[in-house]
Amino acid sequence: MGKSLLILGSQWGDEGKGKITNYLSNKADIVIRYQGGNNAGHTIVFNGHKYALRLIPSGVFNENVKCIMANGMVINPRAFKEEVSELINAGFSCKNIYISDRAHVIFDHHLELDRLNEEALGDKKIGTTKKGIGPAYTDKIARTGMRMCDFVSVDFPELYKNLLEFKNKQIKDLGGTPIDYEKTVKEYMDLASYMRPMVTDTVKMIGDARKEGKNILFEGAQGALLDIDFGSYPYVTSSNVTSGGTISGTGIGCHGVDEVLGIVKSYETRVGEGAFPTEQLNEIGDLIRERGHEYGTVTHRPRRCGFLDLPALKYSIQINSITSICLTLLDVLTGFDKINVCTHYDYKGERIDTLPASDRVLRECKPVYAKLDGWSEDISNIKSFEDLPVNARKYVEFIEKEVGVPVVMVSTGPDKYQTIIRKEIF
Ligand code: GDP
Ligand code: IMO
Ligand code: MG
Repeated sequence: MGKSLLILGSQWGDEGKGKITNYLSNKADIVIRYQGGNNAGHTIVFNGHKYALRLIPSGVFNENVKCIMANGMVINPRAFKEEVSELINAGFSCKNIYISDRAHVIFDHHLELDRLNEEALGDKKIGTTKKGIGPAYTDKIARTGMRMCDFVSVDFPELYKNLLEFKNKQIKDLGGTPIDYEKTVKEYMDLASYMRPMVTDTVKMIGDARKEGKNILFEGAQGALLDIDFGSYPYVTSSNVTSGGTISGTGIGCHGVDEVLGIVKSYETRVGEGAFPTEQLNEIGDLIRERGHEYGTVTHRPRRCGFLDLPALKYSIQINSITSICLTLLDVLTGFDKINVCTHYDYKGERIDTLPASDRVLRECKPVYAKLDGWSEDISNIKSFEDLPVNARKYVEFIEKEVGVPVVMVSTGPDKYQTIIRKEIF
């Protein structure tokens, strides 16, 4: 019987999912991305090299691991080709990539609409990555999108022409620049030819793999608090990031995930707009940003930084059935005298210990902190949990006790091997 594990961002993204997926992919037969697109930026560091993946699953470096971009994803063909080219130039074959025939395509008109929507929202903007993610998922739900099976078919030019006529009306309404069919169709046809050999029925592939007892890793993108249903709406992404996304996004069925590993950054970061109760708009936030190199992988925007938020984490654990935790970037907290952890919120005198539905309410939630003692020793090369400074261990144990889920891995640096394993789970 094969194992399957979901690696899931438990906060607002950038928790270190790429690093951990790559680390665990040694034992996987398949790594699957099930949602999102190139709004993701997953950094992987090994053998002195750094790679930033946006679309391709983080198992790609090992040719024996099949990497599936499943039906729940939205894929920009141009961005895909660029990413594959970068990897091939770096010496990786990329022969292990499979793309779902049901995945949706991101076209230039989606990028233009993303830009126009954000512009129209003015100071209410979401702060998207401007990769066309929202407009592509909008089209999927409105049944006006195009899927990979059509993109790589001989009918593409005709289908694209009709689609563009319709989408250009929306672009014009918003005052944007319509996309020229003649100028773009040839490039898209070339991209379709490039991708055609990789496009396949991944639903069947995944079903067969499960029957054959293969080990499967699901690689979440974004973080649970950016989920379209459960996140701090409307400041969210447009997909189901949470564990339910694996079902609709791959066709694995509701018994397809055995364990859910929540990737939890030792503090909190957020890119883009939206409430952030524990944000530190002061020298502490600046220090975390500099020490943790907290700048977006995709947009290079400075990330907003703050203290760990346990009400939000408990909520994330509940909605995702998180069974174990990997605590990342613990090394970034080295050198703080005291470290705050938010245990609950105070909302107009009322105690709240979950994430409220309304972003407006969340904005008014005042974090109540426990103050933990820090440590000063460098932990970046420590290989066993027992060797961590006592206060670093206490920090981990405090979190475990508060949320009731074991921390099975601790990450102490960006490199693949700066990882402490407390319990093997895959
Ligand atoms: P992802 O989107 O969840 O894959 O995370 P990102 O790659 O966007 O952001 C995480 C950043 O932290 C990257 O620059 C990683 O190289 C880095 N990183 C991952 N784990 C650790 C860690 O334990 N310590 C430090 N210092 N950096 C880490
Ligand atoms: P990874 O996988 C952090 C955020 C954007 C914005 C909101 C909506 O690297 O963790 P979108 O372009 O998706 O419509 O933007 O979601 N966002 C991310 N923040 N990490 C990500 O991915 C993100 N992907 C989207 O900043 O607030
Ligand atoms: Mg990222």
